[in-house]
Amino acid sequence: MSRRIRIVCDNTAGALAGTLGEHGFAAHIEADGSSILFDTGGGHTLLHNAQRMNLDLRAVGEVVLSHGHYDHAGGLWPLLQSTGGKRVLAHPKVFTRRYSLREGVCRSVGIPYPEEFLAGMGASFSYSEDFREITPGIYLTGEVPRVTPFEEGDRGLFCDEEGCHPDPVPDDQSLVVKTGKGLLLLLGCCHAGVINTVEHARQKSGEERVYAVIGGCHLSFCSQPQIDETVRTLKRYGVKKICAGHCTGFEASARLSREFPASFRPAQVGYTIEW
Ligand SMILES: [Fe+2]
Ligand SMILES: [Fe+2]
Repeated sequence: MSRRIRIVCDNTAGALAGTLGEHGFAAHIEADGSSILFDTGGGHTLLHNAQRMNLDLRAVGEVVLSHGHYDHAGGLWPLLQSTGGKRVLAHPKVFTRRYSLREGVCRSVGIPYPEEFLAGMGASFSYSEDFREITPGIYLTGEVPRVTPFEEGDRGLFCDEEGCHPDPVPDDQSLVVKTGKGLLLLLGCCHAGVINTVEHARQKSGEERVYAVIGGCHLSFCSQPQIDETVRTLKRYGVKKICAGHCTGFEASARLSREFPASFRPAQVGYTIEW
């Protein structure tokens, strides 16, 4: 029985011929007969890349939205159009209105379709802010408590166009797989902070060992001390595989690659990890 995660959407495409990159993230999890789609990308590459990867999206049982940003949920409409109804797991605040404000430019970055529209297309939403088991050995973190002093988050995200109300992205959550080698964490953007997320997963799952961290680490808009402390803590965990992509950022990815020469891989479309 195969147990593997494959990256279907990312900012960069790997060596798999014909796959495309876009600003966004999606990964497919296959474990003991379960088929789970974690995020859907921005909507431009999911169906195309899945076809190139011989991935049958009709067989997906659950769709998880890591949080309500367009680059993770934008593929939900094309997915529903293509496959029909799906159960969609998310945090209750996933449809919050939200904006990014950088260098004076404001952009709407929330889910680009209303909840009712997606429900009409066959999305059956299951909301929870708690840690929950999706299928045996695979969990969703739910809302992640922000406990580390160094993970300050992205200060360019707001709930209003004027930039008066910061958006801490409380709906941000990650997927956790309990493997024989320790926890495998699959991150969307990880606005909650990589270390906050790992700590929450360790505490809720009862597993101390951290085997792998895969996905978007959102370190590109964070301070140098946050990157330094994140690297230090990941080393302390003894993480065996780090596969960072999407919003991790070039500089942070280069740093991770340098600090973890034996375990770092860039998360690109087509990257596969088995356990
Ligand atoms: Fe993102
Ligand atoms: Fe995000």
